[in-house]
Amino acid sequence: MRRLEAHEIGAFLAAQRDKQTLRFITCGSVDDGKSTLIGRLLYESKSIFDDQLASLETESRRFGTQGANLDLALLVDGLQAEREQGITIDVAYRFFASEKRRFIVADTPGHEQYTRNMATGASTADLAILLVDARKGVLVQTRRHSRIVALMGIRHIVLAVNKMDLVDYDRATFARIVDDYRAFADGLGFATIEAIPVSGLSGANVMTKSVDTPWHAGPSLMDYLDTVDVGGARVLGPLRMPVQFVNRPNLDFRGYCGRIAEGEARVGAAVRVVPTGATSRIASILRGFEEVDVAHAGESVTVTLADEIDISRGDVLAAGEAPLESADQFEGRLLWLNEHAMTPGRQYLFKLATREATATITEIKYREDVDTGAHLSAKTLAMNEIARVTLSTSAPVAFESYAASRTLGAFILIDKLTFETVGAGVIEFALRRARNIHWQALEIGAASRSAQKQQKPRCIWFTGLSGSGKSTIANMLDKRLNADGRHTYLLDGDNVRHGLNRDLGFTEADRVENIRRVAEVAKLMVDAGLIVIVSFISPFRSERRMARELFAAGAFTEVFVDTPIEECERRDVKGLYALARQGKLKNFTGVDSPYEAPERPEAHVRTQETTTDAAIEQILAALT
Ligand code: ADX
Repeated sequence: MRRLEAHEIGAFLAAQRDKQTLRFITCGSVDDGKSTLIGRLLYESKSIFDDQLASLETESRRFGTQGANLDLALLVDGLQAEREQGITIDVAYRFFASEKRRFIVADTPGHEQYTRNMATGASTADLAILLVDARKGVLVQTRRHSRIVALMGIRHIVLAVNKMDLVDYDRATFARIVDDYRAFADGLGFATIEAIPVSGLSGANVMTKSVDTPWHAGPSLMDYLDTVDVGGARVLGPLRMPVQFVNRPNLDFRGYCGRIAEGEARVGAAVRVVPTGATSRIASILRGFEEVDVAHAGESVTVTLADEIDISRGDVLAAGEAPLESADQFEGRLLWLNEHAMTPGRQYLFKLATREATATITEIKYREDVDTGAHLSAKTLAMNEIARVTLSTSAPVAFESYAASRTLGAFILIDKLTFETVGAGVIEFALRRARNIHWQALEIGAASRSAQKQQKPRCIWFTGLSGSGKSTIANMLDKRLNADGRHTYLLDGDNVRHGLNRDLGFTEADRVENIRRVAEVAKLMVDAGLIVIVSFISPFRSERRMARELFAAGAFTEVFVDTPIEECERRDVKGLYALARQGKLKNFTGVDSPYEAPERPEAHVRTQETTTDAAIEQILAALT
């Protein structure tokens, strides 16, 4: 790279600033030669810095697969681990520029288990380069990636048919792959699909048109990236600024910090806070340390308002005359990213822009077949599967449809126990049924019911293996509380499964629903003033935690009836362990379905070391 003279620097920077930026993502299977292709784009556009070039030369010798030549893939495969394994394992953002444009490329891994990174990269890109190996054609992976980029709102596709050198630049091979892809992609809603025959290795049609493909009438990859119109200039919508942080250094200053997602913020403009509905006017705008009159989409600012109103992280500042909607039930599409299947009814952390809440998938409407897009019925979602779902959040969320806003219409789901991102989704619309149902205020509340019964209502939750002795101890506890004049009710798994839950079996999804229903029933009974004893295997931590969170602090007591499985099996009162061992009963807890022991139960009853009477005393002690 030539060093710029001092007087040139200003002009250079100005030119860079005025250039349009194209954000794109590259997707391909592990061996499609993706890294080499991107490496070549970077190398030939002279975006490699001298020091990088020096290390590339040494590393080509060490890890390279290209003999004495530079291995361009090493430029892109940034991480040590992946160099040594020969696969790409993270999203890497690369920056390069041509005379006309600046480019930001999200290079994402082709490996199945890393779809998560691909979804992340796709969410901010305008265009996707899908790589196909000319020898292999369109693969399941190509179709899966296409569906993900379509889901994430990308409307422009470059089908780069790579390794053309290995098929002797054969026109018919290229044409067949392109036809194949177009037939598949027809229903995905892409605005443009540009097919280009390339070779990352030889450089054919990467920067300039190649003499090897005289039959190719279209542009080279670089020419196309330089000129493609992705509708870059965003229509200036009304202001939407998700509040990230409330800055209150002292009593005199209260600023709302965040990045403007859409529209502009202008001093004096009327704003409405969603979902609270409070209104005010913008008093001042700080961009960095500079006070400005106007700030635009993409800028991070601190806004102060004319009135003192209550705003918290996750609220959205919206144009006063055009506020956005808020809701707590939605329909949308979800891409599942975790090895552990998504189960409707289970609670996940939900993040949309800066809002965090708890969410459950209430229904899987259908799963989409990767190849055909056919609607398949599904009870759970496995990794990499896409489905149309309905979901419900614990609090109202300000949102827009994904078609209207990629910031306010996209959400992620996070596992509550491991904090892994397990799902990525887009919102299509809010469900009406949610809007038409309002909480009805009642005259007689929990406090008066509790006073009338002269007791502190609560839920005592028994968990443990089948045959651990839960029912026996729960039953004795119930008798004891009754004798003491308490108003109680005992909800036992086997009994509730005869009525309310008779439609449920023992799959993970059914057990999640089983616990959700009984927890809700227990909550109603506690509200009615009762001391409720629940005795269910309730094998999953996640649902026991959900149950706990339904109750006020101190009104939930978890009792772990801890009997080793060998002992439960030895007793085998109902003969179920024997059946399960013979393979005649599927999904039996402790045999071929997991039991996740509680970590910190309020009472841990080790049945082999204690008597039933002592266990009752232990539980009563835990109540106070
Ligand atoms: S839970 O796992 O969903 O909480 P629940 O407590 O309602 O289970 O029901 C457990 C009872 O169902 C057991 O006590 C046993 O009698 C019976 N049962 C029948 N099939 C199974 C099974 N596959 N796994 C566990 N329990 C089973």
